[in-house]
Amino acid sequence: MPEPRKIIIDTDPGQDDAVAILLALGSPELEILGITAVAGNVPLKLTEKNARKICELAGRPDIKVYAGAIRPLVRELVTAEEVHGKTGLNGPELPEPAMKLQEQHAVDYLVETLMREEAGTITLCPLGPLTNIALAMIREPRIAPRIKEIVLMGGGFFEGGNVTPSAEFNIYVDPHAADVVLRSGVPIVMMPLDVTHKALTTTKRIDAFRKLGTKVGIATTQMLEFFERYDEGKYGTDGGPLHDPCVIAYLLKPSLFQGRFCNVTVEIASELTMGMTVVDWWGVSNRPKNATVMRDIDHDGFFELLVERLGRL
Ligand code: RIB
Ligand code: CA
Repeated sequence: MPEPRKIIIDTDPGQDDAVAILLALGSPELEILGITAVAGNVPLKLTEKNARKICELAGRPDIKVYAGAIRPLVRELVTAEEVHGKTGLNGPELPEPAMKLQEQHAVDYLVETLMREEAGTITLCPLGPLTNIALAMIREPRIAPRIKEIVLMGGGFFEGGNVTPSAEFNIYVDPHAADVVLRSGVPIVMMPLDVTHKALTTTKRIDAFRKLGTKVGIATTQMLEFFERYDEGKYGTDGGPLHDPCVIAYLLKPSLFQGRFCNVTVEIASELTMGMTVVDWWGVSNRPKNATVMRDIDHDGFFELLVERLGRL
């Protein structure tokens, strides 16, 4: 097997973040150098704790978890307890983590690691607001050309928004950070709502996790049954979109996804469309292409991969 791909997951767990982290931990093709927590779905003191809870659920207390930004670059923090519950990880009863949070700030960890490791060998996997990534790029601009790729969950275009009619949550919470990352010149793969809304946690699919019968399978079932209820109520669907694991699934099996290299520009001026990701899908502007925007997914293949990998934990 080739050398595992080195990744850093930046996250705001969040049940879907949790499943993404579990997918990465169940996949030997990936080496998680560290997990950096950011304020998003719930405040930072919960997202960093939830990240540690998930590592322990997977039997991986060795994974290094770092706490990062407590709020967006400019705007006030907006959270999503209505979706994820008060703890951010409602559903399973997971014990308080015994593993320690790393002392180093996540932004310092990102800069130090990217400056130390061989250029072009680290992939960043942001699953929440992009505050930590933008802060690291501003703190040390030399890291941008050293990043192999950024594969992120965020944005939406044909599907509209999920927190306002035009903006998706991760981008809406910190549109200024998204603007820094989108202008960074780093190769970006974007998993917007246009693709994640096609990956629904239907009853049949949740039963497949339940049938694993393992601690991880049962906890995942409980997380997804809590997580999906908000979107089921909103969209009237069987199941809710499983956003963040699309990022990790892309690293494992890119053929599951189809998309197009386009320009993506984020709105940071108008309150009406704040955080909207304007995707120039038809190439009608002369704005430079800066991201591969995914729009289609083999959703059966996606869930088969998820169940198989989580079954290994
Ligand atoms: O809009 C969906 C995104 O916002 C996901 O990353 C979810 O975890 C929340 O952070
Ligand atoms: Ca997230």
